[in-house]
Amino acid sequence: MPNLFRVVAVLACVLSSIPQVQASDEDIIFKPLASGPPKLMVLIPGGKVPNVNYTNTALAIQKATEMSLWIVVPAVFERLCIIQCSGKGACLVLHQAVEGAIAKAVKAGFPLVDKSRDVFIGGHSLGGTCGNYLMQGYPGVYAGLVIMGSYVDSKGPGSLVNYTAPVILIGAELDGGLAKPVNMALWWMQFEEVLVSKGRDTAIRNKSVVILPSIDHSDFCPGYAVPGDLPSELDSATALNTYIGPTVAAFLHLHSGMPTSVQQKAIAKLTNAIAQTRTLMTPIVRAFDLEVDGGIGIIEGGASSPWCITAQHRIGGLSATDDANLFIKNKYTNSSTGEGGFEHTRVGYKVSGSQLLLNTSGHNAYERDVEDTATTNAAKEIGCKLVSSGRIEQQLNVTAVTKGVTCGDVNKYAVEKMKDLLQSQVPKTLQRYETKGRGFCWKPDFSPPGDIGPLFIAETLELKENATCLSVASLTISTTISSKIFPGVHYCKLLSPAKVMDWIYTVSMKTPETTSNSYLLSSETTHKGINVH
Ligand SMILES: *[C@@H]1O[C@H](CO)[C@@H](O)[C@H](O)[C@H]1NC(C)=O
Ligand SMILES: *[C@@H]1O[C@H](CO)[C@@H](O)[C@H](O)[C@H]1NC(C)=O
Ligand SMILES: *[C@@H]1O[C@H](CO)[C@@H](O)[C@H](O)[C@H]1NC(C)=O
Ligand SMILES: *[C@@H]1O[C@H](CO)[C@@H](O)[C@H](O)[C@H]1NC(C)=O
Ligand SMILES: *[C@@H]1O[C@H](CO)[C@@H](O)[C@H](O)[C@H]1NC(C)=O
Ligand SMILES: *[C@@H]1O[C@H](CO)[C@@H](O)[C@H](O)[C@H]1NC(C)=O
Ligand SMILES: *[C@@H]1O[C@H](CO)[C@@H](O)[C@H](O)[C@H]1NC(C)=O
Repeated sequence: MPNLFRVVAVLACVLSSIPQVQASDEDIIFKPLASGPPKLMVLIPGGKVPNVNYTNTALAIQKATEMSLWIVVPAVFERLCIIQCSGKGACLVLHQAVEGAIAKAVKAGFPLVDKSRDVFIGGHSLGGTCGNYLMQGYPGVYAGLVIMGSYVDSKGPGSLVNYTAPVILIGAELDGGLAKPVNMALWWMQFEEVLVSKGRDTAIRNKSVVILPSIDHSDFCPGYAVPGDLPSELDSATALNTYIGPTVAAFLHLHSGMPTSVQQKAIAKLTNAIAQTRTLMTPIVRAFDLEVDGGIGIIEGGASSPWCITAQHRIGGLSATDDANLFIKNKYTNSSTGEGGFEHTRVGYKVSGSQLLLNTSGHNAYERDVEDTATTNAAKEIGCKLVSSGRIEQQLNVTAVTKGVTCGDVNKYAVEKMKDLLQSQVPKTLQRYETKGRGFCWKPDFSPPGDIGPLFIAETLELKENATCLSVASLTISTTISSKIFPGVHYCKLLSPAKVMDWIYTVSMKTPETTSNSYLLSSETTHKGINVH
């Protein structure tokens, strides 16, 4: 999780309201099951998860390794490692706890030679966040990082691309929380970038991102059902022994001086898992590419919004022949207000021969708050300033074949298009959604009072979820060509294709009690929901 100050702040309130509860966990040491090079992994538990719930996880990892692997699952204060490690520069107490755990393993017989080669840090969920901070706070101290159901920084020196230590991110297809596929896509794209820039060996050994199919966030801590999670589609033993254990083991085998044959098997294992991950992630990456050109807008802006261009074609409502005469440019603005911001952009049009050139503009709003936290990396809304169908008819001397296309129609089209993409790439995901997920409810477009421009900027796409559906209503300004203000425009606040994917892949299948606020980050959901795990 990029930043957990919010969580920490919330937790601080929780803690001060509860008399000091002593969690009864003690460090658990798992002695190795096999011979081979002696290595140790310190596995930091997720938020509120009793550390005994990593017993079967530790055993599954050990069973899958061909080395003398020790595992310690430390007890963390109040079962919230984040209290001991709230950032990369504030991890002293957790560091001491981890060092204490290593010392216990040594006392029990682990033959430590060099921590930077022999000791790996692992973490699940919030424990993964703490592991990330620990690795960055103590660079070069440990051999590598195994993160389950969590992630490293989204950008900067602690991003996957720039991580100095070897790391593997292991996600779950049915993660009901922040490490869901739509969010993991951010690191998946970084993996693909490393693959291109640094090559296969570096990418697979040092930066793997693997989403394990059919499992949920709680499969990493069997017995403990993480609140707000989705149901797993596998029994715990299969999840652990077929997927989680062998994936972690493959990473460890690549950093433990194992014989070439063992390393080749590990590379093959990860290559296969990565191919499956690519299949699962490709539709999500495509959806992100539609929001803004070149990747994820929540991290950085772009030059244009492909979705606004699609929307302009739909809003035009022309026959295919006439539509071929539309040449649409879109200028993406990184800011909503202020100089050069979305509020100051205007549409433009110009006939050139038989063609009509249209200038449109776009700006996406994201959920990320000032503390850098978001429940989804998909855009909250896609703002587009488009030219009205009436203006296009007038300029091209044609009549639209589909009259009165609304912003809401474009939203419906987003869902149809995403479903088509899923049907062709990951039909199982679509089937699961159609069987178990809540659908969409479409409400009519609404306009700001008096069609006032500034209010178009200030107001937002309406998204509300309940037990039946996610209801969607677009904010619009739609004027005739004789209008006194903004004649011949069609402005829309649209549903993001990546948000549609987010809904289809996981959020639609959550039970309403745990989701009433999934799109409205409130401190209540932050501590009641999955964010602390
Ligand atoms: C990685 O580091 C370089 C150099 O500091 C920086 O330009 C780049 O943006 C970083 N990558 C990410 C994904 O943050
Ligand atoms: C993986 O990372 C380690 C530690 O930074 C480095 O020594 C090693 O060369 C890297 N391996 C590859 C194949 O890039
Ligand atoms: C995991 O935690 C749950 C709930 O705290 C507990 O009931 C269960 O026995 C634990 N399972 C294991 C394997 O320790
Ligand atoms: C928006 O952000 C992108 C990526 O950071 C940058 O390339 C582009 O120049 C920015 N556009 C404007 C108008 O600032
Ligand atoms: C479209 O925008 C470009 C600048 O991006 C400008 O040069 C051109 O004149 C505009 N055309 C119309 C028809 O508004
Ligand atoms: C549409 O008709 C007007 C007036 O008859 C003409 O000036 C204009 O060039 C026509 N536009 C196109 C695209 O043919
Ligand atoms: C959910 O919202 C939709 C649209 O607003 C409405 O039709 C439906 O009845 C609501 N369902 C429940 C359970 O409240």
